[in-house]
Amino acid sequence: MSNKPKILVSRAIFSDQLAELEKSFQVRSNQADRVFTPAELQKELSNVVGALVTGSERIDASALQNAKDLKIAANISVGYNNFDVPAMSLSGVMATNTPDVLTDTTADFGFALLMATARRITESEHWVRAGKWDQWSIVNNPLGMDLHHSTIGIIGMGRIGQGIAKRALGFGMKVIYHNRSRLSEANEKACGASYVSKEELLRTADHVVLVLPYTPQNHHTIGASEIALMKPTATLINIARGGIVDDEALAKALQSGKIFAAGLDVFEGEPQVHPELLKCSNIVLAPHIASATEKTRRAMVDLAVENLRAALNGKKPPSLINTEVFKA
Ligand code: DGY
Repeated sequence: MSNKPKILVSRAIFSDQLAELEKSFQVRSNQADRVFTPAELQKELSNVVGALVTGSERIDASALQNAKDLKIAANISVGYNNFDVPAMSLSGVMATNTPDVLTDTTADFGFALLMATARRITESEHWVRAGKWDQWSIVNNPLGMDLHHSTIGIIGMGRIGQGIAKRALGFGMKVIYHNRSRLSEANEKACGASYVSKEELLRTADHVVLVLPYTPQNHHTIGASEIALMKPTATLINIARGGIVDDEALAKALQSGKIFAAGLDVFEGEPQVHPELLKCSNIVLAPHIASATEKTRRAMVDLAVENLRAALNGKKPPSLINTEVFKA
């Protein structure tokens, strides 16, 4: 019988990272990568001291019901809306996430999605593949919207939002933002960004980019009435979380030409995509891949492991969310 501590790795990770973990822990791994049902997760958590989890696993009072020995659930993700943090604190379980290591990769992707959306890149590719391109044309080829010297409006100006702002400066864009709290003067200057109300941002931005965390208060931050404020030539990009946008209202707006186009990496009820969104041609769809480069996914796993090891060694995890649970 091994006396190594037992941990759970709830989803597939790179095999060398798993092998490294197995040197120190008895690992219940899930390299098959099938998402556990809530009942399975509850059972899996019942006999481990630590768990590496992802946004696919909801860690709440029910999941923790039998998790008597669990000290830490380390999310391999910066967003942690899959955590019921008060319930975790009540059970004495440390909650951690993976900030910083994915900022630039995610900001790169936000910008790529914005460019693809504004310039209709995937729609054009489908058009070419369908054999519809028979000649170069001034007016009868897919015409897009400019990014350069346009106004980008960023809602949610944390690390990733600021990364997108800095990229926008390279395109000569005017940057406006809305956030729960205003940035310091120095940070605003570094991003060349001006703070505006949400309404002003929606009315004036040519491109609206959503990068705010999901909370119940942020549910449907963008719905029909917000879309109605936007320019008919505007694009909307969501790399935040499903539920921030009312996907049904967005599909209606895209179908009726209320806005020009949308780029979505996240969806309400993902991996399901609202069937009306699938019917829209003026949309770029991606399967929640903003942080998906091998280098960054590895760094996310490494940071989650660092958090887990610290917690199990009585040290404060570097990205502890519920600091009140940690007792030195
Ligand atoms: C994150 O890190 O929050 C990404 O969206 C992956 O869940």
